[in-house]
Amino acid sequence: MTIAEVSGALVESALEKLSVTSLLLATSAFTLTLGFMGKIIFKQKQKLAGDTKFPPHIPSSVPFLGHAVAFGKSPIEFLEKAYEQYGPVVSFTMVGKTFTYLLGSDAAALMFNSKNEDLNAEDVYARLTTPVFGKGVAYDVPNPLFLEQKKMLKTGLNIAQFKQHVEIIEEETKDYFRRWGDRGERNLFEALSELIILTASRCLHGSEIRQMLDERVAQLYADLDGGFTHAAWLLPGWLPLPSFRRRDRAHLEIKKIFYSVIKKRREAQEKHDDILQTLIDARYKDGRPLSDPEIAGMLIGLLLAGQHTSSTTSAWMGFFLARDRGLQERCFSEQRTVCGEELPPLEYEQLKDLGLLDRCLKETLRLRPPIMTMMRMARTPQRVGEYTIPPGHQVCVSPTVNHRLQDTWAEHLDFDPDRYLQENPAAGEKFAYIPFGAGRHRCIGENFAYVQIKTIWSTLLRLYEFELVDGNFPSINYTTMIHTPHDPIIRYTRRTHTQH
Ligand code: HEM
Repeated sequence: MTIAEVSGALVESALEKLSVTSLLLATSAFTLTLGFMGKIIFKQKQKLAGDTKFPPHIPSSVPFLGHAVAFGKSPIEFLEKAYEQYGPVVSFTMVGKTFTYLLGSDAAALMFNSKNEDLNAEDVYARLTTPVFGKGVAYDVPNPLFLEQKKMLKTGLNIAQFKQHVEIIEEETKDYFRRWGDRGERNLFEALSELIILTASRCLHGSEIRQMLDERVAQLYADLDGGFTHAAWLLPGWLPLPSFRRRDRAHLEIKKIFYSVIKKRREAQEKHDDILQTLIDARYKDGRPLSDPEIAGMLIGLLLAGQHTSSTTSAWMGFFLARDRGLQERCFSEQRTVCGEELPPLEYEQLKDLGLLDRCLKETLRLRPPIMTMMRMARTPQRVGEYTIPPGHQVCVSPTVNHRLQDTWAEHLDFDPDRYLQENPAAGEKFAYIPFGAGRHRCIGENFAYVQIKTIWSTLLRLYEFELVDGNFPSINYTTMIHTPHDPIIRYTRRTHTQH
């Protein structure tokens, strides 16, 4: 190991042990660079000033770090307080960067109706995603090209595919949970994360890639996924951190595996009917087919975009159901009413009739949306209400905050799936409920996520009864980029009707 690598390893091991707050502290080495950037932005602001009114800025007595500590500790509380005190558009500084949050439906409309040239996604996401997905896809290409890639992926995520997926997911779930036995206490989040790599790999990548998914490949995914950290977002990519090196090595290894499968598919006489085949056959508007690196990058993107989002949501849903045994029993009887007393294998057509399960998932996504903040870089001055947001601000919308504003949602913190039986559960506001985003960057995986999570939970409800361990409902872990449950242990007992 060189000295640089040793110091990289030390920095990293320290970072891994630190909370977000302390992580932000650890980045103070970049004060000078960012301070310089701050000066440029300040100059731009001065140019803009005159009769323009900037959003209220929450003052801070801490230089550079600004509000990083309070925000890192409890971002939702921080933003809710800011909304109360300053209103729907509010700016504050963290680690030398200015963030402007658009809180509530009306203010959020600015982000969702904007052009990518004005509020830009690549500027904030590419440094995180490009080393993981690779070049030529997603935020590494101009947005019109990414939109074409999203369209190709969406074509592959169709009803004919979902019908096959239900069968696959039920089978993988039953198979995975065999190891849980009849009763016990286990880490639900860990189990669902492992399961969802298997289901997503088979549904989104195809049977050949799923068959290759052994412990070594699972480790490669874990290393690749290790690229999605606050460290990767905040620190320069050239730092010799072990996690960066593991990520880069895993990226190359996984691509090699995908290339071999793509090559065999291209050479095969017979065509498959799955997403990989859709991508192989797809064409850009100008007639060009996707290259192997583009297909491989899109496959990585598909898996990782859906992995944490779906596993976290599924785990939270489990704890909401475990906390309310009455609701859990209603969901179980719905299985019998919709699918039949004998609970035969699930079918895609039945999923939409599982209305209560659907509402439970919808309510889980309201109270625990996995993407807490969507972010863009303001490249041009942005007018919102009476304010002008200057270029250089990171403009943010938080589903978590919009989903629990008191003036929008009745009994805003209650888990109440039946609220969606009412006509206007969110006071008719357009962007009050946005777990999958909106506008040009909207999620393409919503339908697949619903199929996947509803199939997993239908299967689990048929297998087990769940309860909280000694009444403990997990608190929210704010240190991870996606807000996962803390100490996610659940108690389970096999239902007596269930065949093994
Ligand atoms: C519960 C599950 C999921 C949730 C809550 C979720 C949430 C989101 C959100 C909030 C965005 C918008 C990001 C932004 O505007 O900055 C997004 C975009 C996206 N998601 Fe999902 N997602 C989920 C599952 C999936 C799955 C399963 C896939 C793929 C199969 C997927 C693929 C994508 C893609 C390609 C984008 C587009 C990003 C862009 O255009 O900038 N997502 N998702």
